[in-house]
Amino acid sequence: MSGRLDGVRVVVTGASSGIGEATARALATEGATVALLARRTDMLEEIAADIATTGGDARAYQVDVTDAAAVRDTVNSVAADLGAIDVLVNNAGVGSMSLAVDADLDEWHTMVDVNLHGVLHSSHAALPHLVEAAKGARGVADLITVSSASGRRVPKPTSNVYAATKHAVGAFCEALRQELGPQHVRVGLVEPGFVVTDMTSGRDFGELEALEASDVADTIVFMLTRPRRHGINEVLMRAIGQDS
Ligand SMILES: NC(=O)c1ccc[n+]([C@@H]2O[C@H](COP(=O)([O-])OP(=O)(O)OC[C@H]3O[C@@H](n4cnc5c(N)ncnc54)[C@H](OP(=O)(O)O)[C@@H]3O)[C@@H](O)[C@H]2O)c1
Repeated sequence: MSGRLDGVRVVVTGASSGIGEATARALATEGATVALLARRTDMLEEIAADIATTGGDARAYQVDVTDAAAVRDTVNSVAADLGAIDVLVNNAGVGSMSLAVDADLDEWHTMVDVNLHGVLHSSHAALPHLVEAAKGARGVADLITVSSASGRRVPKPTSNVYAATKHAVGAFCEALRQELGPQHVRVGLVEPGFVVTDMTSGRDFGELEALEASDVADTIVFMLTRPRRHGINEVLMRAIGQDS
């Protein structure tokens, strides 16, 4: 498979379904070699095999992003297997919505562990590889994080902790952007509104035509295929008609 990302080595977390899977498929179609990270190995292997049937190159790596040591080991294994890491897509995430008075504290902790600590673990593990890769032939490396429209504005009371994790991720990425630009590591945030995935299954969108995972994947491909000088730092994207 050949395309605009030939020779680019990418890590996608949360690649076993939804936005991560669609992103991995889109990147492989553009010629990237993609490391698929998540907990459900069977799904990762199925996706990798399917990508291979279309001539793409994807490899499955089982990891729980809440486990810092496991993430470090996995990222280092990916770098050894692929020769380098040019791009990290932080995508793994979970969302549970409830009013604070009704909330299950364990669900709050899980959201913080996956959506915030997971991003910190993956970013920290990948950064040395990205800085190194930026010195190579491509001349740039990329760290893209899938946040949410809820990371820009709290849409409703039940978004409490989910929105808090996404706001935190936005602040972290802005600091990374300021630190890493001089080393030619671009840092970008993607902030989707409603997307049809497992996370939103059972949700009634009413008249609204929600985004597809491939819409987010297309945006990430666009960000990664800009000229080296052109960093896209933030993309807020909502289904047309979504009000919050
Ligand atoms: N759907 C939406 O409307 C929407 C809107 C805005 C932003 N987002 C964001 O988009 C991202 C992807 O979500 P999605 O909508 O595509 O949902 P999804 O289909 O449920 O995908 C979530 C992914 O995260 C992985 N994951 C969850 N916990 C993990 C853990 N502890 N370790 C490793 N991987 C883990 C899951 O894999 P395993 O279960 O196999 O580990 C899965 O691959 C999330 O960050 C989410 O907040 C979604």
